[in-house]
Amino acid sequence: MRVTNRPTRAAGPLLSAEETEANSALGDVVARKLAVIGAGLMGSGIAQVSAQAGWDVVLRDVTDAALTRGTDGIKSSFDRFVAKGKLSTEDAEAALGRITTTTDLEGAADADIVVEAVFEQLDVKHEIFRTLDKLVREDTVLASNTSAIPITKIAAVTERPERVVGAHFFSPVPMMQLCELVRGYKTSDETLARTREFAESTGKTCIVVNRDVAGFVTTRLISALVVEAAKLYESGVATAEDIDLACKLGFGHAMGPLTTADLTGVDILLHATQNIYTESQDEKFAPPELMRRMVDAGDLGRKSGEGFYSY
Ligand SMILES: NC(=O)c1ccc[n+]([C@@H]2O[C@H](COP(=O)([O-])OP(=O)(O)OC[C@H]3O[C@@H](n4cnc5c(N)ncnc54)[C@H](O)[C@@H]3O)[C@@H](O)[C@H]2O)c1
Repeated sequence: MRVTNRPTRAAGPLLSAEETEANSALGDVVARKLAVIGAGLMGSGIAQVSAQAGWDVVLRDVTDAALTRGTDGIKSSFDRFVAKGKLSTEDAEAALGRITTTTDLEGAADADIVVEAVFEQLDVKHEIFRTLDKLVREDTVLASNTSAIPITKIAAVTERPERVVGAHFFSPVPMMQLCELVRGYKTSDETLARTREFAESTGKTCIVVNRDVAGFVTTRLISALVVEAAKLYESGVATAEDIDLACKLGFGHAMGPLTTADLTGVDILLHATQNIYTESQDEKFAPPELMRRMVDAGDLGRKSGEGFYSY
């Protein structure tokens, strides 16, 4: 196993030393070793907030370059919190000190909870869950951060579907308060409770999705809203600006749906809503042609400079 320690600067937990000690004293009740698979946008964020909360974190990705990108992102995020006076340098350093990185999945072997945050592709997730199932302890919880793939489908390749659960964090993880917990068809109450404990220990508030529907609650809601907004725009009923203003000023949304689509990525939302449509056959999730053509043309939103708006 190749494990490198990368905490050269900053950090400290959001928990005080006393709180961290008290949590450790809970022993079986609060597990403390976390493995995060995938050091991209979400995995690195989950590793960051967990380390801040006192968890020992092993972060796994397939290449050293991906791990370096992930840990660089964590360091810059901590730097911003320190610069704003929201975190002390010592606390940032201590949190970084709790994160180790590895390219070997065996680094997850002694974890109490594993959170998978790799690409949103069922075959990639299947390969990881199949391997983890053989690698980790019998009581280890295997959580997926998937935005839309049914947890039951992911759990099906393991011998422990009762210990597989959805733990859907939001981006940027250090800022967003929600964690959507998703029960697969066989997820046990204990698994859900342990995952809730973990997510709440990182300062998140959880909602529970009791039935494993594609897109869960959040991706279904945003997909339905973006699809309808794109259809209204496509058919010339209103401008992009006015559709967004309707949601902001009429409903108090922080951001309009077309601005949200540009920020998230038109391709990401097209993929998510297409998945939900395929699973549910519910017409309201059928993506409008406009979104397909935008993706064909490379107008993916903010990241490409053009989307429903120009950047
Ligand atoms: N981006 C978001 O806003 C968001 C929000 C909520 C949930 N999600 C979900 O989180 C998951 C990750 O999304 P992301 O945006 O962080 O993606 P990302 O592309 O930023 O990161 C994915 C990482 O997984 C790594 N990876 C691929 N195969 C791997 C393997 N076999 N082992 C270890 N690492 C591997 C990649 O190298 C990459 O670093 C997806 O399931 C996505 O749907 C994303």
